[in-house]
Amino acid sequence: MPIASKTFETIRSEIAGIPISEIVAKFGTPTYVYDMAVIEERVRDLAAFDVIRYAQKACSNIGILNRLNKLGVVVDAVSVGEVKRALAAGFETHNIVFTADVFDREALALVKELGLHVNCGSPDMIEQLGNAVPGASVTLRINPGFGHGHSQKTNTGGPQSKHGIWHEDVVDCLRKADLYNVAVTGLHMHIGSGTDLEHLSQVCSALETIALQVGRTLTTISAGGGLPVPYREGQTYVDLDQYYSLWDTTRKRLENAFGHPLSLEIEPGRYLVAESGFLIAEIRAVKGMGENTFYLLDAGFNDLARPILYGAYHPISISHRNGRATKQMVDVVVGGPLCESGDIFTQEEGGFVAKRSLPAASVGDFLILEVAGAYGFVMASNYNGRYRVPEVLLENGKMHCIRTRETFEDLIRGEMIPPSSL
Ligand code: LLP
Repeated sequence: MPIASKTFETIRSEIAGIPISEIVAKFGTPTYVYDMAVIEERVRDLAAFDVIRYAQKACSNIGILNRLNKLGVVVDAVSVGEVKRALAAGFETHNIVFTADVFDREALALVKELGLHVNCGSPDMIEQLGNAVPGASVTLRINPGFGHGHSQKTNTGGPQSKHGIWHEDVVDCLRKADLYNVAVTGLHMHIGSGTDLEHLSQVCSALETIALQVGRTLTTISAGGGLPVPYREGQTYVDLDQYYSLWDTTRKRLENAFGHPLSLEIEPGRYLVAESGFLIAEIRAVKGMGENTFYLLDAGFNDLARPILYGAYHPISISHRNGRATKQMVDVVVGGPLCESGDIFTQEEGGFVAKRSLPAASVGDFLILEVAGAYGFVMASNYNGRYRVPEVLLENGKMHCIRTRETFEDLIRGEMIPPSSL
């Protein structure tokens, strides 16, 4: 189980054993690639948990969902689209949980039609589900009153968060569940994304307190997601043995109290896919701006939004065209082609441009944004009329296209010019 600190190289010639030149020759740039072996390793890391439920919002391409299904991972869905993705990838309905804070009408109808298990994040959902599916069993997602994430925008606990059922409202919700003929069989807490072991550990005792209020109807407890991964040189992995044993102890105490076994779930998104993903771009301009040197790429924040959204740091490497590597390092700012000043990959929270020490490179060389598999492609947009990029799965030495590059037809699909009297 990895607890070592991570190192990143700034020059890279291959990904998953496949030369970058070959990937680019086949798919062009920008392109997302995912190394399947890394995903498999991350799944193995979490094998101690009874159930690994993948939060597909992190990377929901059906090619990847299909492989996770084959590895015995089950899945979480937050929308009709995510439920349908899971089905298209091969998941059976009993392996899909619908987790949300609201049911839109279409989602409630689909939950009813497919008989999906629901993780309710708002008291109103209990009533709505009870009316639509009398006799349903549910999980309650509880906001324990505290939370933590890598950014304030990814903190999902405490009074400022819209997520979950407030911990003091549990007794009311149990009454509501009785009234609407709904059985509470699961309990779930997710306090934020990209948090740390200290905060994650606090969830165990918070969940135990609530579980004792819910009582013997419970058959499943979920630790939620939030496991961080190293994005910077020297950052370490969470000690998963320790994390598991904290949860296992909580589970065993509850099993003793209830007199029956409880299934222990974990619900990671980032942990399973972040490190598998790379966004390969080409440097298209190198220019000086006073004291700053800019590498400008053919990829922008429409392709990878985490830096502009959260000031998120992604490791960067350079792949010199024709293998003409240079070890000379330069301090540069890395930006994209979009017509917006915030289109900078090396920025800190608040939009402040930061320099990065990278190998000297020229127009035509490739720049790779690493640890980009989670919340990368899924948050891409068509801003500035840009086509969303291909996704490629690298598996057993082969390149599988799992999404083609968009075309102009994709860009204007569904748009129309209304009749004009001019
Ligand atoms: N479960 C629930 C109910 C969630 O809301 C989330 C993430 C997860 C699990 C998975 O969390 P993870 O293991 O990936 O930390 N776009 C942001 C992250 C948003 C997370 C949303 N919910 C980012 O790029 O950092």
